[in-house]
Amino acid sequence: MARSGVVSVIGAGFYGSTTALRLAEYDIFEKVVLTDILEGKAEGLALDMNQSRGIEGFETLVVGQTTTADGAGYEVIAGSDVVVITAGLPRKPGMSRMDLIEVNAKIVRSVAEQIAKHAPNAVVIVVSNPLDEMTALTQLATGFVKHKVIGQAGMLDTARFTYFVAEALNVPVGSVQTLTLGSHGDTMVPVPSRCLVNGKPLSELLSAEKIDELVTRTRNGGAEIVALLKTGSAYYAPSAAAARMAKAVIEDSKTVMPVCAWVDGEYGISGVYLGVEAKIGRNGIEQVVETQLTANEKADLLVAAEAVRSKQADVQSL
Ligand code: APR
Repeated sequence: MARSGVVSVIGAGFYGSTTALRLAEYDIFEKVVLTDILEGKAEGLALDMNQSRGIEGFETLVVGQTTTADGAGYEVIAGSDVVVITAGLPRKPGMSRMDLIEVNAKIVRSVAEQIAKHAPNAVVIVVSNPLDEMTALTQLATGFVKHKVIGQAGMLDTARFTYFVAEALNVPVGSVQTLTLGSHGDTMVPVPSRCLVNGKPLSELLSAEKIDELVTRTRNGGAEIVALLKTGSAYYAPSAAAARMAKAVIEDSKTVMPVCAWVDGEYGISGVYLGVEAKIGRNGIEQVVETQLTANEKADLLVAAEAVRSKQADVQSL
């Protein structure tokens, strides 16, 4: 089997290391690189992952590398086709994603500058929070064309919504289709008109109150897990989403996924990174795909766009 492509994951915490392992286990990449500023952490995790290859049967090499604040060690990401930024602090119970903005902006900016220097041709997938703002900041700090910087949030929010619907109806997850757009936060926009169970509209299967309850739980999906874990945030579902996005880029699959993408006229919205559906391929966002929205859903998306626009303007100074 021919393996190709190099994916680098910056930050070897729970999110980064799980993403790296998922990517390696796909067994389609030549190499997965994992880096962290904590001395030895990335090397140790990479060694552990490589030792699982004989059991799980994958040949993708995992390379771990410690990097320093002044950029030493970053040569390891040279030639990357995709770089996933997971570096940054996770939430603690009671915190909103926005509470992380100042500290994570410093981290993400410094990481983005190193990516621009060492992997100038990469597509960058951002997952650090607050997501919409960190995606905008990464584009600014790398100077990359906007379609090559993508944020991961919509796939995760959609997957959470799907799970809650499947659980409520006691049906297989695979029979449920949902969609969320907008921000990865308070102005997340669920799209009930695109929610189907075995092809049937969700509104025929659950009451409006129950759907509202599931939407609220989805919007607070991250916080629910933070409150349970107490020491960090979710990473199994988030890493599944980020890894699928990286796979779509390398395979040039043109798969349509809900992601945080630069919107330039779609839905009458311009000049903002926002959760929308987009075709993902070798160039990152190949096309933002507009879906039919009801008047209410469209209005909610416009509200989300304006909310993230004002916050994204702030990141320039961070
Ligand atoms: N360069 C590289 N790695 C860094 C840097 C940096 N400048 N700063 C911090 N890190 C590393 C930390 O050393 C740690 O290993 O980022 C890692 C973060 O890991 P965790 O604390 O386990 O957090 P995680 O759950 O992985 O979340 C990472 O994703 O979902 C978001 O809100 C979450 O912003 C957070 C990010």
